[in-house]
Amino acid sequence: MNNNIIIINGPNLNLLGDREQSQYGSITYEELKLNCISKSKELGLNIEFAQSNIEGEIVNFIQDSINKFDGIIINAAAFTHTSIAIRDALSVFKKPIIELHISNIYKREKFRHKSLISDVVTGGIFGLGGDGYILAIISMHKLLSNEN
Ligand code: DQA
Repeated sequence: MNNNIIIINGPNLNLLGDREQSQYGSITYEELKLNCISKSKELGLNIEFAQSNIEGEIVNFIQDSINKFDGIIINAAAFTHTSIAIRDALSVFKKPIIELHISNIYKREKFRHKSLISDVVTGGIFGLGGDGYILAIISMHKLLSNEN
């Protein structure tokens, strides 16, 4: 069964709840994680929820996912706009990938308008707050069940 997914979170997302509430809302990282675990359980998905502030660790999470997970949901945070290494690692993962952003990166500073990963992922969600994670899990479930 294709039901193992990983949600990878990049730098500073561990500070959710404290950081820039006008962009990211008041949900904490722990609350977000619990919501994702609960939605995944409901849909019969096994999820791993990972976070790192270190670019190379995110590359390692992606590489380790190749033989371990059926889909990746990634909020690469600031590395979205800078990391060729994360883009290259995602290009090697030949299964569904969903790019996720809590805020609408296109309504923000110009340097956030460019994502280096959008053209190597299956699809993306942005600007819908913490709910974006739940929507991404539902979409990933459909992608893995070939219901999309
Ligand atoms: C973010 C948007 C990025 O531009 C920013 O650097 C983040 C979070 C989002 O979820 O909206 O850290 O990926």
